[in-house]
Amino acid sequence: MKPAILVARAVFPEVLERLSQHFDVESNQDDVLYTPDQLVARLQGKAGVMSTSSSRFDAELLARLPDLKIVANMAVGYDNIDVAACTAHGVMASNTPDVLNETTADFGWALLMATARRITESEHWLRAGKWQKWRYDYFLGADLHGSTLGIIGMGRIGQAIARRSMGFDMRVIYHNRSRLGEQQEAHANNARYVGKEELLRTADHVVLVLPYSAESRHTIGAAELDMMKPGATLVNLARGGIVDDVALIAALKAKKIAAAGLDVFENEPKFHPDFLGLDNVVLTPHIASASTPTRKAMTNRAADNLIAALDSKQRPPNLLNPEAFR
Ligand code: DGY
Repeated sequence: MKPAILVARAVFPEVLERLSQHFDVESNQDDVLYTPDQLVARLQGKAGVMSTSSSRFDAELLARLPDLKIVANMAVGYDNIDVAACTAHGVMASNTPDVLNETTADFGWALLMATARRITESEHWLRAGKWQKWRYDYFLGADLHGSTLGIIGMGRIGQAIARRSMGFDMRVIYHNRSRLGEQQEAHANNARYVGKEELLRTADHVVLVLPYSAESRHTIGAAELDMMKPGATLVNLARGGIVDDVALIAALKAKKIAAAGLDVFENEPKFHPDFLGLDNVVLTPHIASASTPTRKAMTNRAADNLIAALDSKQRPPNLLNPEAFR
């Protein structure tokens, strides 16, 4: 008998097809957002689940899932999973690193450029029929080329963003839990390690790519926004909650910084409505990794983890808690 799994959100049909060669699959192609109780009901008798950040796997939920052996997240971020609680319950947890680095870095640049050069704001103005003449001072923005890029969170995606800055002749400074090796810094456009305050006071453009945790919550709040240059821009590609959105809205309203580009929000998708009234913010719905090849690669990577854990009985390639592998 094949092990039973739940694919908790809609996925590419070809991946469902692949999974069904190994498992008895319950899918959710209607993409219903299950409540915790619905998730528990659907996971009875299931050995694995393919999840996304919209489902929380905490100690309380795991205690109600006696048959579960693996939570395979279809994301690199796994702040929706209490990994320690998984280990305590003997449940493996996995994520999908690496396959999305370059696509997410591309998107970081799209957001950075749209923010600095006021692309969406000017497009909305044009679409509203307001364009009657050319003017020297319409939508003046900030330059990327020749400026200083500050990256907070210099993991694989941060480094991919830094590499791209070579073409723009930028200086790169970064802040991270630990300093990169000399060679890694050289490959990341000679990135220079600095303290968080120096980064915020010096950078013309600040990009956030650090993982969410209790420690990184509100890495950028009112005090940090006060340190930034008045003409600076802020881009958040990482997770909602790393920025204090209320403080950011106040800073954008008061023009303490020039603009922000946000792909992630506190309480998304129910983000703070005041963002909608601001011209100096570019808003996208958590799509940084959303290219067709990359989302397929992420889904297949999550499938690889399920197949290794439950069918081949091998260690999943992206296991987050090796202690849970027996
Ligand atoms: C990730 O992989 O963590 C992306 O944010 C998608 O959730």
